Order: sequence, then structure tokens, then C-alpha cells
Amino acid sequence: MKVLGIDIGGSGMKGALVDSVTGEMLTERFRIPTPPSRKPEEMAEVVKQIVEHFNHKGPVGVGFPTIIKHGICKSPGNLHKSWMNVNVKELFSKATGLPVAVINDAGAAGYATMNYGVGKDKEGFVIMITIGTGLGSGAFFNGELIPNFELGQIPYKKYKKIESWAAASAKEREGLSYKKWGKRFNVFLELVELLICPDLIILGGGTSKDFDQFKKYITIDTPVIPAELRNHAGIIGAAAAALHEVSKD
Ligand code: BGC
Repeated sequence: MKVLGIDIGGSGMKGALVDSVTGEMLTERFRIPTPPSRKPEEMAEVVKQIVEHFNHKGPVGVGFPTIIKHGICKSPGNLHKSWMNVNVKELFSKATGLPVAVINDAGAAGYATMNYGVGKDKEGFVIMITIGTGLGSGAFFNGELIPNFELGQIPYKKYKKIESWAAASAKEREGLSYKKWGKRFNVFLELVELLICPDLIILGGGTSKDFDQFKKYITIDTPVIPAELRNHAGIIGAAAAALHEVSKD
């Protein structure tokens, strides 16, 4: 079945049609920059434009960069604070006139990676970390998603949340080299290892494509590998997870 997967981030909103059985992307990725306000109405309008671009009439799966509980935003992350308690599923269903399912963006990326990527058949406790505007995390135990793991929210020194210091946005904002940023990211991974001791960490998000440039700064014992679906995992996972959800409705 053809499902439209939409991966929403702090800087871009990206969509593609996905075969929900094989996890294959059937079209090129279409990207619209996230409206600078990062507010609900403006972002819903972009979701509508993405649907129109593909002239899509079927189910839509959205990976959304906040805590999502039963379709509702429970912490706005790096988006506008007015997202708090918005029913994201309803808002996007209304805007598009289509059945929409919404899950956390890192949960979606992890879902794709565990079903179609390097995480396939990986047992035990696996953490997907997406490196972007924030640090997203999706947790899986024996392949099952444990929703809304928010490891990027760990407080660190003067920072309310470590993602403000160690995400890709900090690298960009402060013009850090891969060496400087890689060391920061490693501090984050050290905390993750100490707190939850996973069996495997998989890295996704735009920055993971440059894994070769920063892997030497990662010194934790837990194996760390890049997700070969790279930046497409969010779209594919949103689509696949959506179908899973919509079929339960
Ligand atoms: C949010 C997470 C999200 C991550 C990546 C964080 O600010 O709290 O829910 O997964 O950013 O987008």
C-alpha cells in the first residue's frame, strides 16, 4: 500500500510516498522549510502542501519532533510553545482531509531502521538517536518501540537540556569542527550509556551521513553504528508506523 510519510523537523518538513510493505521510497523526497514561527497553523498548511504535491489520497504518517501521546503534543521540544496539548493528529487530519497518524520523529526513524534497516533482527535494548535540530531518541526492546524516550532532555551543566549543547544545531550555530562537536556528542553518549546501558546505539538524522568524520571521538563501550537509511528513515518510518496505527482504528 502507498502511504505518504512526512518527517517534520525544526528546519525542514519532508515527504515521500512509501511502499508500506517493503519500506521502499517510491518517489523523490519533497522538502519545504519549516515556517520560522514553528506554530501549529502555519505548519499544518505545509503538511497540506506536501499532500497536494503528491496528489495523495490515502493514509498519511507523520514523524513529529515532540513528545506525542495518543496524537497529542505533550512537550513542544524545539517548536513553538503553543503546540503544547494540541491534538496533532486531528489538526493534520483536518488540514488534509485524510487519515493521519502521528508518532515522535525519532520513534519513526527507529521504526524504519528496526524493520527495514541495520536494526532488523537486532534483539535486546536498541536506541536510535537522531541528530538534527535536537537530539531525538527512539527505544526498542526486542524490536518493539517504547514510545517517547527523551534522552536529549537530560540536563547538562548550565544547559536545561543536553541537546542545546550537543545536537547538530549547536555544531552549526557555534561553527564547531567535527572534532569539537564529536567530543560533545560523546559526552552525551557517555550519559546515555551510564543511565540506560543499551546493547546497541544506531545514529540517524542528517549528521549521521558524516559518521566517518566523527566516529573516532566516540569512546563508549556500547557499539555505535550509523543507520544506512540515513535521512530517509524518518519518512519511511512515519509511513510504516502510520499504516500500523491506521489499521488499528
Ligand atoms: C524533542 C524530541 C524530538 C527531538 C528531535 C527534541 O527537542 O523533545 O521529542 O524527538 O527533539 O526532533
